[in-house]
Amino acid sequence: MPNQPLTVLCLAGDVKGQRLITECKQEGCRVFVLARESLKGDEGWPHADVDEFFYMPTLTKKDDVINAVSYLNRTERIDRIVPLDEFDLEIAAALREHLRIPGMGETTARYFRDKLAMRMRCEEKGILSPGFVPVLNYDAIRQFTEQVPPPWVLKPRSQGGAAGIRKIHHADELWHHLEMMGDEQSHCVLEQFVPGDIFHVDAITIEGKVVFAEVSRYARPPLEIIQNGGIFMTSLQKRNSIESLALKELNQNLLSAFNLKRGVSHTEFIKSHADGKFYFLETAARVGGAYIADVIEHATGLNLWTEWAKIEVAGEQKPYKLPNHREDYAGIVLCLAKQEWPDMSGYNDPEIAYRIHKKNHAGLIVASPDPARLQALLENYSWRFSNDFLTAAPQYNKIER
Ligand SMILES: Nc1ncnc2c1ncn2[C@@H]1O[C@H](COP(=O)(O)OP(=O)(O)O)[C@@H](O)[C@H]1O
Ligand SMILES: [Mg+2]
Repeated sequence: MPNQPLTVLCLAGDVKGQRLITECKQEGCRVFVLARESLKGDEGWPHADVDEFFYMPTLTKKDDVINAVSYLNRTERIDRIVPLDEFDLEIAAALREHLRIPGMGETTARYFRDKLAMRMRCEEKGILSPGFVPVLNYDAIRQFTEQVPPPWVLKPRSQGGAAGIRKIHHADELWHHLEMMGDEQSHCVLEQFVPGDIFHVDAITIEGKVVFAEVSRYARPPLEIIQNGGIFMTSLQKRNSIESLALKELNQNLLSAFNLKRGVSHTEFIKSHADGKFYFLETAARVGGAYIADVIEHATGLNLWTEWAKIEVAGEQKPYKLPNHREDYAGIVLCLAKQEWPDMSGYNDPEIAYRIHKKNHAGLIVASPDPARLQALLENYSWRFSNDFLTAAPQYNKIER
């Protein structure tokens, strides 16, 4: 039928992607949200922009979701499927394959979700990443531990937010953990711990070509913050520095190797302290969490959720054009606060672009056209946050993905 609005089905294992929903609506789509039941009525949803909500007890049971959405498809056309949360990506791919809807399929989704698949693909394509071994064959694991000096990291293949990552210093310790894990162990990968600075490249890709990429650096490795507590800080890096240019090239190579055709991505690299080289850490076919989309928006005026919506709605037939945007700089300082609602009235530089309003958190997004001024402000705030707000408790899973 001509001019029938597109129907976009968003999968929501978590309350996320409000801007994407709103943009789809503004583009004239019908928007359905299939959410986890416990998110029913959540105030975070842009209710006015959602045509209909559907609920299931969980979105992680693939067969159940396929049956439910196929049932819905009997009476409703579905043109696009968009995963709002990292954990919805595989189900979205499975649904697209089942209903023959265009977009990322299961083979590609696997590269973006499974850390072992990421490592093996890099090995095939000659992209530098930490030495690793699948937690499958014991002879292979023994060989790895004899050849690669510790520390190592034992990490779940498909988790996020540094959840469940364990640093291991000795082979005995490793075997002990593997034994404790039982059948869970094959869902992990073991790799070399590469000490270094961690960067992330947040990008938009169209027809295999990265058309937008911003390079940022975490002030301290996320694992350190999650395990020991402290101030989370990340900021955009100078666009024409040798580092940024190298990372943009690596990011393009990586996304090509992983067959990303179109969409947004968040990809992390470690700059090794030992040899100064960049090692691919991980990638995700989604908008970066921990307010990274907001940071990029304050630097450029582009919101990655909004752009993702436009890309999805355009599909393969219509061209997507990256809007003109600014090239300023921005960063975030965020920590768990000892106060329930920390008093941030003492922070009032004009560069403060956004104040994070969240119970037991202190957070500021800072923006400036001048990268040196931005760094000076962030460092100053980080120091002041330590004195004013920071709680000593570790932040297990508190910094969102
Ligand atoms: N091989 C590694 N070498 C050094 N640090 C690592 C390594 N793997 C993980 N880390 C640390 O753990 C954090 C989380 O690991 P990552 O693979 O990015 O998983 P997640 O999906 O949980 O973010 C990283 O940001 C980094 O600080
Ligand atoms: Mg990570």
